[in-house]
Amino acid sequence: MPRRRLGILISGRGSNMMALAEVARDPASAYDIALVASDKPDAAGLAWAAEQGIPTFAQSPKGMPKAEYEAAIDTALRDAGVEALALAGYMRLLTDDFVARWRGRIVNIHPSLLPKYKGLDTHARAIEAGDSHGGCSVHIVTEELDGGEVLGQARVPILPGDTAEALAQRVLAEEHRLYPRIVAEWLSR
Ligand code: GRF
Repeated sequence: MPRRRLGILISGRGSNMMALAEVARDPASAYDIALVASDKPDAAGLAWAAEQGIPTFAQSPKGMPKAEYEAAIDTALRDAGVEALALAGYMRLLTDDFVARWRGRIVNIHPSLLPKYKGLDTHARAIEAGDSHGGCSVHIVTEELDGGEVLGQARVPILPGDTAEALAQRVLAEEHRLYPRIVAEWLSR
């Protein structure tokens, strides 16, 4: 099967993007990273990707209508031949129009065991609720926030006295294992 061309959208440090890119180095990988794009021109992950020789694109949405901003991202992705898109700490909501144009071809990693704790502050909410486990989920992106089909999850025990930060760190380590594996399975199906 030819390697699929994956685009990645980031806003910050991009550790999940790095995990995806590390796996793409394997000649047997199901995908190549065709483009890393960001709404933050100074995102740390963007500099890392450029250093690795991965094509990058940055477009700040400041001072322009959202439709225009997303059109620029969309054009960059299509120009790079992107077939499927992984969100990796991309901190903006995609418009319904954008989601419709990429229907079924966008995945996201979310730091909770969906359908629990959509949105922000997931780890603090899991601890406060007295849950035995936190975790992360990879899901298809739809118009509903964190609401599409779940493709895979990893569970992480919540320890006595856990803080949101400590739990976030342990979940993040699992995110880095889960995301590349699920993306590869998804692109091969
Ligand atoms: C991760 O916790 C991910 O689950 C969430 O945003 C964070 C991104 O971290 N969507 P990074 O930029 O991949 O390091």
